[in-house]
Amino acid sequence: MTNELVVEGLCAGYNDLRVLQDVSFAVPVGAVVAIVGANGAGKTTLLSTIAGLLRPSAGAIRFRDRDISRARADDLPGLGLALVPEGGRLFPFMSVEDNLQLGAYAPGARAGMAARIQEVTAAFPVLAERRDQLAGKLSGGERQMCAIARALMCRPRLLLLDEPSVGLSPLMAERVLEIVAGLARDEGLTVVIVEQRVTEVLEIADEAHILDRGRIVRSGPARQLQADKSIQETYMGL
Ligand SMILES: Nc1ncnc2c1ncn2[C@@H]1O[C@H](COP(=O)(O)OP(=O)(O)O)[C@@H](O)[C@H]1O
Ligand SMILES: [Mg+2]
Repeated sequence: MTNELVVEGLCAGYNDLRVLQDVSFAVPVGAVVAIVGANGAGKTTLLSTIAGLLRPSAGAIRFRDRDISRARADDLPGLGLALVPEGGRLFPFMSVEDNLQLGAYAPGARAGMAARIQEVTAAFPVLAERRDQLAGKLSGGERQMCAIARALMCRPRLLLLDEPSVGLSPLMAERVLEIVAGLARDEGLTVVIVEQRVTEVLEIADEAHILDRGRIVRSGPARQLQADKSIQETYMGL
């Protein structure tokens, strides 16, 4: 197995609205793959479909050589695929620790919960300090870190991240993206990250795909797309 995830000819949308049109890409084991595109391009729709929250109308999704096109969203964390939704979706009136515990709902993840909380908070020292604080009191960056840590509770192999830098200051956005890169580098996690912040995400990605109105219009090594004049003009404001 050289690819953790393979998406082939994927079409999906909402009732009569077809959003994704024949989307295909592969995610090598251990890679950070960025999907970039403007607001409304279909980035969230793509991650929601991979995560089993939306049914594809055509195409296939294979995760670790298993067809998950029709899998239930609830079953995917147990198989090793975790989604960090846009905005993190923490429970604001619960503590950081209780939010992390909720990430361990996959079968088998409950055993060793306390040890796992220690491990994931070690990667985010600020969360260890704020374990007992209400999640709603965290800063934007801390909230995003907590959402990522919660997804890590079920020991995923593949992490899907929906715009983790949205609403963050440039400095905090860079820190969060650096943490994501570190998880891939140090823990062998495979990452699919969707972002509107093209310049920043291409810095940490290995490969990238540009999504435009539901279609992938360009693909390549992140370094190559970064150096491309037309991409700089259209997506990076350079
Ligand atoms: N729940 C929904 N019901 C109907 N249309 C939706 C829904 N969510 C998103 N859309 C539409 O699908 C398209 C893609 O949206 P989305 O995947 O959220 O884009 P992005 O995440 O790239 O901003 C947009 O035209 C949006 O209006
Ligand atoms: Mg979105």
